[in-house]
Amino acid sequence: MFENLKQIEKDAIIGIMALFREDHSENKVDLSVGVYQDDTGVTPIMASIKQAETELLVQEKTKSYVGIAGLPKFNDAISELVFGSFYHKDRNRIATIQTPGGSGGLCVAGHLINRGKHGATVWASTPTWPNHIPLLSTSGLTIKSYEYYDRENNQINFSRMMSSLESSASGDVLLLHGCCHNPCGADLNMEQWQSILELINKKGLLPLVDLAYLGLGDGVDEDASGLRLLANNCKELIVVTSCSKNFGLYKERVGAVSAISANAEESARTLSNLANIARSIYSMPPDHGAALAAQVLTDNQLREKWLEELAQLRNRIKQVRTELSNGLNARQNKIDFSFIKKEKGMFSFLGISRDHVIELRERFHIYMVESSRINIAGINQKNISYIVESICHVID
Ligand SMILES: Cc1ncc(COP(=O)(O)O)c(C=O)c1O
Repeated sequence: MFENLKQIEKDAIIGIMALFREDHSENKVDLSVGVYQDDTGVTPIMASIKQAETELLVQEKTKSYVGIAGLPKFNDAISELVFGSFYHKDRNRIATIQTPGGSGGLCVAGHLINRGKHGATVWASTPTWPNHIPLLSTSGLTIKSYEYYDRENNQINFSRMMSSLESSASGDVLLLHGCCHNPCGADLNMEQWQSILELINKKGLLPLVDLAYLGLGDGVDEDASGLRLLANNCKELIVVTSCSKNFGLYKERVGAVSAISANAEESARTLSNLANIARSIYSMPPDHGAALAAQVLTDNQLREKWLEELAQLRNRIKQVRTELSNGLNARQNKIDFSFIKKEKGMFSFLGISRDHVIELRERFHIYMVESSRINIAGINQKNISYIVESICHVID
């Protein structure tokens, strides 16, 4: 049987990571990976998570399965974090299950949508996180794209976004990045969320919000404000959350999918479908990461500590954005890099050509994906001047 299998090409990013490993230059810099790094280049375990882990080690009594929907304590805590006052007002309309990362949540969401409307069309931004396409289409959904980021002018082209969505139809799904758009870092403002809400309700679209970076933009409540506007004003909504970045729980695989239905009775049916889908894919989610996130979110002292640590991550990203943008603008005048400090979260396009990306890699040992997307958190006090000088050199 396996003789029939075709070789699958490696992801472009895996190829870049391999080139980086083989590079022995002392100056080498990796801006391609998708994980947060502190100023010393380490992806740290948060102190709040470490403390929760120490407590759980003592408290844990069994390694028996968690339920199909995961830990109720986690599902309640993450729903409250994401939806804020909507959770307190309308929690009987929210069906949440814990999933193996945000990726698992997206896959479950895709299957749920396909059960509601077979082969439904999902509209994804151009560009979007490349893994959105396989995760959502594996259930049988069709993916179409709407214009979003204008690469020429390094900003969202909102009128083009709205006009490309004119061809969407009732029952289509609108995939939105809740905050810290990956890969472009350009987020919608509240006026734009309001226009999107009106479009959703006018056309009868189902909004699907990917919230992989909650808290890394402007703060938890600020980053959730767009999706909360939708929650408060749409009949239905799906939100997929990840705890990989904001809790630093990457390898523990923890996230959630929350579906808002029109009323409590529909919500109970939605929940039974979410659980049934999870059962058919992976049966039960892993426990450890969700137990840690739940412990942190439900203990006041740990929650405060986590919020402070999250603010440190966010502030470092903002500071690097400002320093990079100001540094580049101070040394050249071919490209105005001020968009970098306006954008949010871990990623931005540098906005340079593919040839310049390759030159940065081959001559200066600075690695990024060919689209020029960089991980802002890969920049630190040790390498920032070198990065700025090298970029200025290649674009000159
Ligand atoms: C936009 C987006 N959504 C979802 C995810 C999924 O993250 P995970 O499966 O690690 O929770 C990522 C991870 O990089 C992402 O960038």
